[in-house]
Formats: sequence, structure tokens, C-alpha cells
Amino acid sequence: MRRLLGRLALRRKGEAQEPKDSGSPGVEIRPGRPADLPAVLAIERLSFQNPWSRAALRQELENPADRFLVASSAGSPPLAYAILGLGAGQAELLSLAVHPEARRRGLGRTLLETALRRAREAGAEVCHLEVRVTNEAALALYRRFGFVEVGRRRAYYADGTDAALMSRAL
Ligand SMILES: CC(C)(COP(=O)(O)OP(=O)(O)OC[C@H]1O[C@@H](n2cnc3c(N)ncnc32)[C@H](O)[C@@H]1OP(=O)(O)O)[C@@H](O)C(=O)NCCC(=O)NCCS
Repeated sequence: MRRLLGRLALRRKGEAQEPKDSGSPGVEIRPGRPADLPAVLAIERLSFQNPWSRAALRQELENPADRFLVASSAGSPPLAYAILGLGAGQAELLSLAVHPEARRRGLGRTLLETALRRAREAGAEVCHLEVRVTNEAALALYRRFGFVEVGRRRAYYADGTDAALMSRAL
């Protein structure tokens, strides 16, 4: 990972290719593919108390109704990913995670921007998500993007923490 970030930092200094579809120099946002599963699973396990299983992530990667986006520097394993569920004019952000060593560099923002744009392009008019009420980083990110809390699920997580339900129009 440190090697990956080193390469990313070099790109930031200027000379290298501009990314496709990303606000972070050197980082490309692209559809996830089966070969990304090990890196995605590692990020998932580093990011969540109750991570999704390998099988669940594989299913999302293979589900054509979902949009699995990854952020990676060219030819390297993903540093971050977002999973968007789409249907009936609505979108749901099913997951968003950035490798701990790659946080606070704009990847979460870039992925979320891209996911929301894709949702809009696919005809969704609203996006929903659930987030732990204690997850300050995610709450700050979502509020910045105009998500507002529309409800709560009491003791939704295994440790008894509530989930905030958030939505925004697209
Ligand atoms: C939430 C998460 C995806 C943010 O990703 P990131 O790449 O670090 O975020 P960015 O660098 O794009 O930050 C965008 C904005 O989000 C907010 N933010 C991000 N991390 C924050 C933190 N630790 N504390 C407060 N605000 C934070 C800030 O408003 C930030 O803008 P700024 O850097 O100009 O202040 C990342 O912390 C993560 O993967 N967390 C673990 C998994 C998780 O909780 N996912 C959300 C599940 S609902």
C-alpha cells in the first residue's frame, strides 16, 4: 500500500497522465471487476466492524443492476470503492470505503460524486443511504453532498448503534 501511495504522490507532482473521470490526479474511477475482489475485501475488513463477506462482495461485483465503482491508480489494486444499488427511479449507496492509508485525499468525495452522477444518468431521482450515527467522517461527507437525515433505525447494528437514514434528490 505504501508503494501504491508513493506512486500516487509522484503523479500528484504533475507529469503523469491525467485520470479519466476522477478529481484526484493519477487516480481513475472505473467499474469493479472480479479481479478486484481481494483488494476490495481487504479494504472492507479494514473499514467496517461487520464487514460484508467475500461471497456478498463477489455477488455485488457480478450484479448488473448494481454499479460497483473502484478508484485505483493505473494498473494497481483499488484504493477505494463504492457500490450503488439502482431500481425504480431510486438509488441506494450500499457501501463506500477508502483504504485507511488513502483517506483524506479526496477519494471518498470523488467516488461519491461519480456514483451520484451515474445514478442520475441511470434515471434515479433520489439517493438513499444508511450510516452509523457515530460515523463522523461519513456523516460529514454526506452532509457536504446535501444528504439530510430522514429517519433512524434504532439499534440497527450488531453493537446496538442506531443507523441514520439519509437522502438527497439527484
Ligand atoms: C467516510 C470515508 C469514505 C471518507 O473517505 P475519504 O477519502 O477519507 O474522504 P475525503 O478525503 O474525500 O473527504 C471529503 C470530505 O468528507 C469529510 N470527512 C472525511 N473524513 C473525515 C473525518 N475523518 N472527519 C471529519 N470529516 C471528514 C470532510 O468534509 C472532507 O472534506 P475536507 O477534506 O475538505 O475537509 C472514509 O473515512 C472511510 O472509508 N471510512 C470507513 C468506511 C465508512 O465509514 N464508510 C461509510 C459507510 S456509510
